[in-house]
Amino acid sequence: MPAPSPSRSLDLDGTPVLIFDDSAAACLAAAEQIAELVRSAVARRGKAVLGLATGGTPVPVYKGLVEEHQGGRLSFAEVSTYNLDEYYPMSPLDPQSYRTYMDRHLFSLVDLAPNRAHVPDGTVPESDLEAYGASYDRWIEAEGGLDLQLLGLGRNGHIGFNEPADLDLDTALKLPTRPVSLHPTTIADAAGDFGGEAHVPRRALTMGTASILSARRILVLAFGAKKAEAVSRSLTGPMTAQVPGSLLRSAGSRVTWMLDPAAAAQLPG
Ligand code: F6R
Repeated sequence: MPAPSPSRSLDLDGTPVLIFDDSAAACLAAAEQIAELVRSAVARRGKAVLGLATGGTPVPVYKGLVEEHQGGRLSFAEVSTYNLDEYYPMSPLDPQSYRTYMDRHLFSLVDLAPNRAHVPDGTVPESDLEAYGASYDRWIEAEGGLDLQLLGLGRNGHIGFNEPADLDLDTALKLPTRPVSLHPTTIADAAGDFGGEAHVPRRALTMGTASILSARRILVLAFGAKKAEAVSRSLTGPMTAQVPGSLLRSAGSRVTWMLDPAAAAQLPG
């Protein structure tokens, strides 16, 4: 699969930003980077550990990875995956669950061992949620950390379901995996999937910023005019818990942003 090149690239305070002709080209390039990273991590340390996202943005990335696998160029036999989030409460069998999404777009289509494909469990009892979140972070740590985290960006700047919050920066950078309340913008954006805002779960489990920001590589994908403001606030505004995407600046050049021209429209240059 020849990886498309960006039509423009920026360096914003040490963070590389790649702007592609369109989202399809960006997703192909992301899939190629992930495939390459898996091959080199497996060659180097015998396994690869991926943090994965759901939502509309990464669907073509998973398609690209499945094609690599079907073409015999990529195996998931030595890969573990940790998804960012799941609605709460949510059965893994529910058609709206992120577990179902991952089964449909990736897990059932590649040679990933079922017991290495982790998605936060939306059936954990309320009283065990905090301990479960701490275990999720420990499992990632015990694997030697994430080789790569794939991220989308919410219109409100959220990463995973780390929503805009009134927290000091130090706390915001070290959040554990935990239960959260969804932000009104997130609920509005999920309304289409659930047949109306009233049916969207109000809560979720999300990987925390601590695990996300410790990943050795982070790819952030954002496409379309509706993401332009969140992209520019994340990359050029103050680093603040009010714009969780801005917290990625603490990871410096370990992060690469991959955008289409519409999502990049409010960036300088
Ligand atoms: C999904 C996730 C969210 C999405 C974000 C963008 O696992 O954690 O942060 O990445 O809401 O969603 P889309 O891609 O649907 O615009």
